[in-house]
Amino acid sequence: MEKYRFPDGFFWGGATSAHQVEGGNINDWSEWEKENAERLAQESEKKFGYLPNWNDIKAEAQYLQNYISGKACDHYNLYEEDFNIAKSLGHNAHRFSIEWSKIEPEEGKWNEKEIEHYRKVIIALRARGMEPFVTLWHWPLPLWLRDKGGVKNKKFPGYFSRYAERMAREFPDIKFWITLNEPTAVIVMSYAKGDWPPQERNPFAAMKVYKKLAQAHNEAYRKIHLASHDASVGFVNILSYIEPNSKKSLLDRFIARIAEYFSNEKFLNLTKSNHDFLAVDYYFHSRLQFPGKVKNENQKISDMGWELYPEGIYYVLKDLKKYGKPIYITENGLADAKDKHREWYIKECLKNTHKAIQDGVDVRGYFYWSLLDNFEWDKGFWPRFGLVEVNYNTQERKIRESAKEYAKICKSNELII
Ligand code: GCO
Repeated sequence: MEKYRFPDGFFWGGATSAHQVEGGNINDWSEWEKENAERLAQESEKKFGYLPNWNDIKAEAQYLQNYISGKACDHYNLYEEDFNIAKSLGHNAHRFSIEWSKIEPEEGKWNEKEIEHYRKVIIALRARGMEPFVTLWHWPLPLWLRDKGGVKNKKFPGYFSRYAERMAREFPDIKFWITLNEPTAVIVMSYAKGDWPPQERNPFAAMKVYKKLAQAHNEAYRKIHLASHDASVGFVNILSYIEPNSKKSLLDRFIARIAEYFSNEKFLNLTKSNHDFLAVDYYFHSRLQFPGKVKNENQKISDMGWELYPEGIYYVLKDLKKYGKPIYITENGLADAKDKHREWYIKECLKNTHKAIQDGVDVRGYFYWSLLDNFEWDKGFWPRFGLVEVNYNTQERKIRESAKEYAKICKSNELII
């Protein structure tokens, strides 16, 4: 039996995002879902038919309503109950997002009632001894902004930072602000591959969005600090562990290096000194063979077919040491409806995180994605990421066994395996 103790004051929690759990949103995503649900249901077999668990997911994946976020987990109304569960699981922190489209449904007009709602959410967390980590943009856009071209609008950084500043003034006790969630995921999925709204497939648009999002972060960083002196501000970066298929091959090494640059480093460079901490989402590993073939072994995979490669988090964290900033793991998790791999995966990722800490990497918190099963974007509801299972018909919650194992770690600040 090995014991891995984490640094004092380590934050333990779960993460969510407004659009995925709250319900009742009207934004660019909700509109897109209605227009695309039928197509997504029809395409599901082509996309996921190869998965060993296809028979288990098929009924949900082929069902049109699966692709409409609708009421989601009704977390907008059930947040207190959900935070009670998180508290009972030993969480001392929680990551969530404010839904921009609820706060500013019309350009420049702030919805006081919704601001009040988030005030209550923050109070509810504090009352339970959980530190709020607040994301300002976890992807959806208000409709007025979508209609102006969204992120590509040259004024996007101004619009975003105005909203960010307003939130920082409204909630001066928030210590941890996250401006953007995974900008590179949006760049790839919305503007390079074109799977997500606004479904552009244009490398020039992708490059433009890179710039706009970086400017948006930089301006928001400055304005949040003007509004709230003690705040710590960062953005969430999705970082993959990328390695050459053969270390001896110069070409494999070349292609791995390019991928690493665009996926892990470019956005950090564009936002250089404007981070008080680094926030990492870790899900992916790729072993690349020139000119771009992925040669992962996939010994274990999630319900979505994603390789489970916990060793990778060690390398990703080690790589961040050079920036000399505190690091928070703001997401790490897997879709696993039967809860087969979750306990193992969390523990292995934490063992590897601990190894990085031993090597001098300043990791200060870990948030499992997600506290609840939720709406997984264009895949809909069938992927089950939650520590807590959600019955979408009754909105009943059920704590998964792996959540209880994770709770032991949260409560003792120690991993024992
Ligand atoms: C992301 C987002 C989350 C996802 C999660 C699982 O990384 O895509 O931050 O919204 O739901 O990562 O894919």
